[in-house]
Amino acid sequence: MCPMTAVSAPSGELVRRRASVFDALGDGVMVLPAAPIQHASRDTERPYVPDRELFYLTGLVEPGCVAVLVGGSKPRMEVFARSRDPEAELWSGPRLGLEGVQRKSGADEVYPIQEVSTRLPALLGDADKIHVRLGCGGVIEHAIMGALETARARGARQGTGPRGVIDPGEILDDLRLVKSEHELSLIREACRITMEGHRAAAQVIAQGVGEWAIEAELERAFRAAGATGPGFESIVGGGENTCVLHYVSNDVSVPEGALVLIDAGAEFGLYHGDVTRTYPASGRFTEEQRAVYEVVDRAREAGIAAVRPAATIGDVHDASTRVLVEGLIDLGVLSGAVDEALEEGAHRDFFPHRTSHWLGLDVHDPGDYARLGASRVLEPGMVFTIEPGLYFRPALCDGRVARWAGIGIRVEDDVVVTADGAEVLTADLPTAAAEVEGLVGW
Ligand code: GLY
Ligand code: MN
Ligand code: MN
Repeated sequence: MCPMTAVSAPSGELVRRRASVFDALGDGVMVLPAAPIQHASRDTERPYVPDRELFYLTGLVEPGCVAVLVGGSKPRMEVFARSRDPEAELWSGPRLGLEGVQRKSGADEVYPIQEVSTRLPALLGDADKIHVRLGCGGVIEHAIMGALETARARGARQGTGPRGVIDPGEILDDLRLVKSEHELSLIREACRITMEGHRAAAQVIAQGVGEWAIEAELERAFRAAGATGPGFESIVGGGENTCVLHYVSNDVSVPEGALVLIDAGAEFGLYHGDVTRTYPASGRFTEEQRAVYEVVDRAREAGIAAVRPAATIGDVHDASTRVLVEGLIDLGVLSGAVDEALEEGAHRDFFPHRTSHWLGLDVHDPGDYARLGASRVLEPGMVFTIEPGLYFRPALCDGRVARWAGIGIRVEDDVVVTADGAEVLTADLPTAAAEVEGLVGW
């Protein structure tokens, strides 16, 4: 499918999402501006990156829009948008225009964006709370400050008047955590393309090859398969670079006998895959690399086995972490009993990140992992990564740990919670050491 056609949100789904927002808004109002256009330099535009919250509720991917969801007894959505403009469209391509915006979003009213400064104050003035992300600047923040000042100075005239500003994520993050079938179909495709990219990239891995050449093959395959491109900067690290968690310069040649860690994800229809595999550049893991690899892969399996409704995201992390700690003791890196080692936390030198993050329209999708000290309970339809790793940064590796110096291994899969467990969306890309070896080279 062409990457642009994939960017869609069925109208019934948009209506349902907005109904949930109106329920949560009460007498509040939510203001969602489009993301700004980014420039590579001066007047040359970068590909547009739409605001995910605006898209989630309106299906719009155009710059220059502002959606206002007005709660209360007659909830409605007003959208301010750019009018058609042949001169601007000559350079940047067609705009939806006001009618197109109405058709696509199902807004109750659509006005030219120039009217936002005159119409927004009245919409805000009647609300009891304004849900907006501070920092959006310009006309919108000016109107918000005005509405708050008026409410403070004069008191409510109609029984309402805004007294608070709340981040829209307070409502939207939880809604976005549970994916619909439509969203899952896009995530599945993003995962499928991500795996295809990994297979292509693994084939060009060899000792002495530039990390950049592997990255180029990975991203060629993403694009050729219909992805918008990589959803985040691809991580292709060889040798000690495997120990840099978010290594993105990808500008060193892979040393002899080294590992290559690829952490990358295709974006499809604005949704993401996110997969890490760690490959031996020679096509064969050394004894040390294999020993560490197998611990990490067992930790991935243990994390997946812990996924089920009513378990928590913390349970997943704990299951993976326990296997990593057992492995570190077996490898002679840590000593003592597992529970004490976990308690002391010495493993954090070698596993300094969490096991999971939510995945969806954002690669690090929003949503709290804990509230009031309690870990988030899993529900069917939640999508997240399971990505344990062990990183032996040379600076930490003296004495008995020296044997492992420079080895960094992460294995990352994407899962969706099902009625009774987990479906691994990236299961078609093997993780077993022997099969990973088989993916490397021609
Ligand atoms: N690529 C960043 C991550 O896996 O979270
Ligand atoms: Mn990743
Ligand atoms: Mn990830």
